[in-house]
Amino acid sequence: MSEAQSAEISREIARRRTFAIISHPDAGKTTLTERILRAGGAIQMAGNVRAKGERRRTKSDWMGIERDRGISVVTSVMTFEYGDCVFNLLDTPGHEDFSEDTYRTLTAVDCAVMVIDAAKGIEDRTRKLFEICRLRDIPIVTFINKMDREAQDCFALLDEIANTLALDTSPATWPIGRAAKFIGTYDLRTQTVHTKEPVGEDDPRIIQMREEVELAEAALPLFDRESFDAGHLSPVFFGSAMKEIGVTDLLDALVAYGPAPRAQQTETREVKASEDQVTALIFKIQANMDPNHRDRMAFARVCSGRLTRGMRLKHVRTGKQFALHTPQFFFARDRQLAEEAFGGDVVGIPNHGTLRIGDTLSESEDLRFTGVPHFAPEILRRVRLDDAMKAKKLRQALVELAEEGVVQLFRPQDGLSPIVGVVGTLQLDVLQSRLLGEYGVTIGFESTPYSLARWITGDRAKIEMFQDMNRSAMADDLDGDPVFLATSSFMMRRTIEMNPDLAFHDIKQIG
Ligand code: G4P
Repeated sequence: MSEAQSAEISREIARRRTFAIISHPDAGKTTLTERILRAGGAIQMAGNVRAKGERRRTKSDWMGIERDRGISVVTSVMTFEYGDCVFNLLDTPGHEDFSEDTYRTLTAVDCAVMVIDAAKGIEDRTRKLFEICRLRDIPIVTFINKMDREAQDCFALLDEIANTLALDTSPATWPIGRAAKFIGTYDLRTQTVHTKEPVGEDDPRIIQMREEVELAEAALPLFDRESFDAGHLSPVFFGSAMKEIGVTDLLDALVAYGPAPRAQQTETREVKASEDQVTALIFKIQANMDPNHRDRMAFARVCSGRLTRGMRLKHVRTGKQFALHTPQFFFARDRQLAEEAFGGDVVGIPNHGTLRIGDTLSESEDLRFTGVPHFAPEILRRVRLDDAMKAKKLRQALVELAEEGVVQLFRPQDGLSPIVGVVGTLQLDVLQSRLLGEYGVTIGFESTPYSLARWITGDRAKIEMFQDMNRSAMADDLDGDPVFLATSSFMMRRTIEMNPDLAFHDIKQIG
């Protein structure tokens, strides 16, 4: 590769911004997403992304959404340009029953925007999602939303974030006016006032802002790029998604200080985004996006290099070549062939089931990205098939849906019917509805005696021996890896104690 080409890759990568929005339901994620897309010119009118916030979604809404591939697809990833940067905004499911999907999506971002309701402060789900980001040291930008309503004191909010999340906060903007009189923001970095309408220096809101900013600057840490990149310090923006105040502050800051695509870890080494050779990680699979074609879309984060349409990459898990005929970018309501993509970009790759979550595609080196996990399910149910004629179809359908990450599939070694594992019960509803809608198979669920599952690793012979002794509590997962199922945590503890030569894992790294 020529020097000019390498320089182009570095330039393109430096202007990629790949992020997700995390929040507690109702804090304003949907509204903020719409406003961001509108600012980026990706949608003509706000209000187009989704009709409803997460909280008011009923079970049937979820079913509808799962069925209506049109909606869920366009919101999986949204690419748009703003301020000379290419943004990839990845959507995370709001409902906690889909937390595994959220976790996988967060493995593909370089930054998360944490939306907080100014009246409510840090809520339950915000904290949980934040912890996931912390595990991966993902830099966090905070957006305190709904400043156009009665809000908590700004200093109290900043304190609460710092104390409950153990995260330093540095105000990037400060609100001008409160509640109905909230009119704009002051940018501490550029020292500029952004208001919806002109306000004089003697306006009481400006006077209050200046006093508070002085206090804030004296009492709170200054923005520090290194601490932000390491996930230790969060710049905080105040605004109102609904009134479109503070949204461009946020986007401008993402343009100004990124972060640009991070290096990604493989089993053997770290891959920098600026490397010449193309590498990509599959972090999400979505099936039947186009109801007329039973295709599957694999969502890949390009981790390095310059990906071009028609390129052949090595599918490291199988060792086979994979031709990228139709990689795609997604916009708010549209998708488009991706002629080229760079490190940080997210592209959709249509395929017929070859690509799985956790897979690596690589131009030359045999690398395997790590960090995409499966969590041990907390709910285990046996699948009951009413029409025995459909057993074969069910087997195939369960494999396909498990590959997509809808549920985890466990095949009991005693030959009994399959067990599915989920983190939240909504996943079971989605499985049932998709089996019927897409495969014409009606199933029911039966309880199992098991409440815990653990992956087993260790010496092959010792695993064999363990399996022989515990056949009725053993199953194979989708990859054929052995899983021990326990009826209680007491039972699990005892088994672990009695088998010190084996390791029992509640998280499996895939890939
Ligand atoms: P979510 O995706 O995080 O669940 O939240 P969503 O954007 O759906 O917002 C939840 C509610 O909060 C919506 O009101 C929305 O209009 C409102 N909201 C969002 N941002 C702001 C803001 O900056 N200021 C104010 N005052 N409200 C905001 P809703 O009444 O529940 O629904 P709707 O009838 O407005 O759609």
